[in-house]
Amino acid sequence: MKHLTVLAIESSCDETAASVYSTQNGILSNIIYSQIELHKNFGGVVPEIASRSHLEKIKPIVAQALKEASVTLNHIDVIAITNRPGLPGSLLVGLNFAKGLAYASNKKLIGVNHLEGHVFSACIENTVPFPFLCLTASGGHTSLYKVTAYGEFTELATTKDDAAGEAFDKIAKLMQLGYPGGPLIEKLAASVDFVDAFNYPRLKDSSGDFSFSGLKTAILYDLVKKGAYDLATKTFFADQDQELKALVSSSMLVCVADIFEQKITRVLNEHHDIKALTFVGGVACNKYIRQRLQTLAHKRYKDFFTPAAQFCTDNAAMIAFVGHYKAQQNLWSDWTLDIY
Ligand code: KG4
Ligand code: ZN
Repeated sequence: MKHLTVLAIESSCDETAASVYSTQNGILSNIIYSQIELHKNFGGVVPEIASRSHLEKIKPIVAQALKEASVTLNHIDVIAITNRPGLPGSLLVGLNFAKGLAYASNKKLIGVNHLEGHVFSACIENTVPFPFLCLTASGGHTSLYKVTAYGEFTELATTKDDAAGEAFDKIAKLMQLGYPGGPLIEKLAASVDFVDAFNYPRLKDSSGDFSFSGLKTAILYDLVKKGAYDLATKTFFADQDQELKALVSSSMLVCVADIFEQKITRVLNEHHDIKALTFVGGVACNKYIRQRLQTLAHKRYKDFFTPAAQFCTDNAAMIAFVGHYKAQQNLWSDWTLDIY
C-alpha cells in the first residue's frame, strides 16, 4: 500500500466539513461546521442559505482541518471532494473550491459519492468483514446495501418516498418540537420508556422497499382524530400536552425500528453469506434503534457495527476514507469532474 495523506471536503447539504486522513494513522482531523442554527426557523434546509454559508466557511474549515492534523498543504497527496448527490448549489461550492485548490497546488483530485461515504463510515474505526449489510438512514436517504469490497456495493432496498430522518423531522415539525426532529423525538420517547402506545400501522410492502410517508399520514390523521390537529388551518393544539407528544414520538420510533427490523430480517433470510450488519447515517445516532438492531444482528450470529456519532451525521472523515481507498486503486478524477 502507498503511504498517502488525503484532504477531504464535504459540502453536499448543511454541513461544511473537512478532514485529513493518512495511511499510517487514519483520521488526523475531522472538522464540521453545522448550519443548523441558520435553518432552524424554517423547519428544514433552505438551499440558497446553505450555499452562501458554505462559501463563507469553506476556507476557514479547510485551514482548521490542516492545522488540527498538524500538516500543511505540502503534505497532502490527494484532495477528495463530495460531488454527488446533494443540493446543487452546495455541491458546487465544495467542488469548485477543491478543484481550485488541487489545480493551484498540483494535487490529484478524487470525486466521492456522499452515499459511498456513509456506506463505509463504519469501517473508519472498525474492521468490518465482507460481505456485510449496511442500513444507511439519514435525512435524505434510507437504503439497504450489500457491501462486498471497498468501493463495491449493491442497493437491495431503498425508500419509495420519505427518508426515515425526514419522517422524524416532519412529525417533529407538525408537533412544533424543533429541528432536526430525530434527537428531539428520541428524547421524548425515552421519557415514556419507548412504549408503543398507538400501534401505528406497519404497512406491508411486497416490493421489499421502505416507505415512511404512510406512517407520517397515519400519525397526522390519528392526531386529527384525537382533536390535537386541525387540517384546514394546519394548527397543532397540543403544544402543552407533553404526554401526548411523548407517546406519539415513542410510538413512531418503535414503528420505525420495527420497519427496519422487518426488512433486515427479510434480506438476511435471502443472503446467507452476510457476515455483519452496519447502521450508518444521521438516524444511526439513535440509541434505541441501535440497540434494537444490535440485538437482531446478534440473534442471527452477525457482528454489528455503528460509527461514532461524529461519523454518523454528515462529515468529511468518511469522504477522506473513501478517497483514500480510491487513491490506492488509482481511481483519479480529472478537471471535467462535475456535480453529477
Ligand atoms: O446524515 P445526516 O446528518 O444528514 C443527511 O445526509 O441527511 O442526517 C440528519 C438526519 C436528520 O433527519 C435527523 O433528524 C436525523 O438524522 N437524526 C436522528 C437522530 N439524530 C439525527 N434521527 C433519529 N434519532 C436521532 N437521535
Ligand atoms: Zn448524509
